[in-house]
Amino acid sequence: MREVNRIDFNCKNIVPWGRSFDEYVDMFNLSEADLARDIVGVGDGPASFNIRMHQRSTSIVSVDPIYRYSEVELRERIQETYDDIIAQARQNQDKFVWTKISSVDKLAEIRMQAMDEFCQDFEKGKQQGRYVDAALPHLPFPDRYFDLVLSAHLLFSYSANCDLAFHLDAVRELLRIGTEVRIFPIVDVNSNPSPFLSPVIDELEKEGVTCSIERVPYHFQKTGNEMLRLKLC
Ligand SMILES: C[S@@+](CC[C@H](N)C(=O)[O-])C[C@H]1O[C@@H](n2cnc3c(N)ncnc32)[C@H](O)[C@@H]1O
Repeated sequence: MREVNRIDFNCKNIVPWGRSFDEYVDMFNLSEADLARDIVGVGDGPASFNIRMHQRSTSIVSVDPIYRYSEVELRERIQETYDDIIAQARQNQDKFVWTKISSVDKLAEIRMQAMDEFCQDFEKGKQQGRYVDAALPHLPFPDRYFDLVLSAHLLFSYSANCDLAFHLDAVRELLRIGTEVRIFPIVDVNSNPSPFLSPVIDELEKEGVTCSIERVPYHFQKTGNEMLRLKLC
């Protein structure tokens, strides 16, 4: 990866933060039929989507470079970073919509529960091949291996850290491994429009990909209630 795309994955530098199964359902507008598809989540981090899908006996794989660490290391890192993350959330309360998640305390409770569920499942899930240590833009799966590819709070979110070339390589890789891709949100971490959204869509459309921006039920970042859906024609 180019300099601008390098993320240092020393365990002391990562900030693990994962969302709940219900949040995933809303972020990607997942129907019961969607939940029965072969799904991979790319950049899932310590979210509880994988464990909850597994409990439903549904096919699920999560991919993230933080999966190279152990449960103990990840739990320690969650504890070390928790106070800072919550302090930042309090400072930036005006940037979020406090309806479904009613307060910073509720946010902390939901996220810590999700991450605890992830941690309890992680070592077993890793052995079962449900948590795969890998990173965009190169994923260790054959072409069209999955039916539905989800990626939350990674592409477009980190527009300040990853350039257009990385976004294009990453999205092409997501399209290589699955028949449909959904990316949420399409704004950056400060709720500003990503400068890469239009160029990515323009390029993919030239390559025969159908791209649509769709409103979803999840609304936490003020401008963050839309996902990008991609399908190869
Ligand atoms: C903000 S977290 C989002 C976690 C989860 N998707 C959610 O919405 O709760 C972003 C995740 O992307 C992962 N990540 C960073 N660079 C990545 C890459 N090149 N490929 C895959 N995942 C990456 C990070 O390790 C982190 O767990």
